[in-house]
Amino acid sequence: MSEIKATVLSKFQEVFGDAEGAKVFFAPGRVNLIGEHTDYNGGHVFPCALTIGTYGVARKRGDRNLRFYSMNFEDLGVVESSLEEFVPGGDKNWTAYPKGVMWAFEQKGMKMDSGLELLLFGNIPNGSGLSSSASVEVLTGAILRELYGFEVTNQDLALIGQFSENQYNLVNCGIMDQFAIAMGKKDCAIFLDTSNLQYEYAPIALKGAKIVISCSNKKRGLGDSKYNERRSECETALSELQKVIAIKSLGELSEADFEKYQDAIADPIRRKRAKHAVYENQRTLKAVEALKAGNLEEFGALMNASHVSLRDDYEVTGIELDTLAEEAWKVPGVIGSRMTGAGFGGCSVSIVKDEAVESFIQSVGEAYLKKMGYAADFYVVEIGDGPRLL
Ligand code: GLA
Repeated sequence: MSEIKATVLSKFQEVFGDAEGAKVFFAPGRVNLIGEHTDYNGGHVFPCALTIGTYGVARKRGDRNLRFYSMNFEDLGVVESSLEEFVPGGDKNWTAYPKGVMWAFEQKGMKMDSGLELLLFGNIPNGSGLSSSASVEVLTGAILRELYGFEVTNQDLALIGQFSENQYNLVNCGIMDQFAIAMGKKDCAIFLDTSNLQYEYAPIALKGAKIVISCSNKKRGLGDSKYNERRSECETALSELQKVIAIKSLGELSEADFEKYQDAIADPIRRKRAKHAVYENQRTLKAVEALKAGNLEEFGALMNASHVSLRDDYEVTGIELDTLAEEAWKVPGVIGSRMTGAGFGGCSVSIVKDEAVESFIQSVGEAYLKKMGYAADFYVVEIGDGPRLL
C-alpha cells in the first residue's frame, strides 16, 4: 500500500506541478457473496469490501476549477471542468463519477467553496462488476468530507454515492455497492437488510479456503445492460402482487407465499423475475445462518443455487459467466461458485479450498479460453476495510 501511495503522489506531482498539501485516500471495491438483484427489491445482501480498490490524491485549489487525471485513462490527459459545470447525464467520461458526487453534496446543501485537483488510480479491473464506479463515488465522498469539512457519516457517503449514481449518472442501482464499500470491515461480510438499512457484520473465517474472483473480461456498464429493465419488471410484478397481498416489496414474501400468490403476475417472464427476487432473498437468509453454524458446504450449495436462479429465472448471466460457474462446479475442492454483481459479463466469485486453488485456476482458465477464445483473469482476494485517509 505504501508503495502505491508513493507512486500516486509522484504521478500527482508530475501532472499538477507539485504535491504540496496533497492528501492520499483509498476506497475499496466490493464482491457480493450472495443476495443478487435483491437490493432494489427490499431484500437482503451479503457483500464484503476488498483490499483492492481506488486510490485518490486530492488538493483544494484557490479558484473554482476542477482538474481530473486518472492513471487508468492516461490517454485522456487532464480533464478540465469547474464547479459551474455539473450536468446530470452529460459527462462522457469517468469524471462523471466524482462530479456526480460533488453535485450530490451540493444538492444536499453542502457546497464546495473552491475547486480541486484529483488524481485517481484503481487496481480493480474496470467494468468487472467489482464496483469500480461505486468505489470512486465513495472515495470522492471521503475526500470531500476531509477537504471541505462536511459532516457526514460513512453511511451518508453510501447514500450520497447512490444518489449521485441514480440522479447524475442515471443508473437506477440499489444501495448494495456503495454501502458495502463505505461500511467495509476487514475479514467481515455485511449482512444488510436493504428495506431499512439495518446491518450486521459477519466474520468470514474461511478455514482452509480462499475467495477467488474469476473475471470474464467481457466488459459491461450498468447503463448499457438490461439492469434498468429487470428493475422495472420487478416493479410491475410487485404492483400485480399488491392486488392480492399487502406487501411493500418482494423481499417481504416467503417462498410459500410466492407460490400461493404468483398467479397474480400475468406474464410468465415477469413471474420468473419475481421468483428469483423472492427465493434469492430467502437463500441469503439461509446462507448467513449456515455460515454462522460453520456449515460452509451449505453456504456453497446456496451460492450455486443462486447462480442457477440468475441464469434460468433472472436471465442475467450469459455464456461467459455460465462457463465460469459451470466449469468451477466440476473442480474438486470448489465449495461454491456463482456470478457476482449485476451480471451480463463481469466476474464470478468462488470459495475454493486452499489446496485446490491452483487446479481451479488452471482448469477453469483452460476451459474458458477454449470456449470463448480469450482468457479469463483470476484473483485471490482478501476482505478489507472501508474508505480512509492514508
Ligand atoms: C449492481 C447494482 C447493485 C445491485 C447489483 C445486483 O451491482 O449496483 O445495486 O443491484 O447490481 O445485485
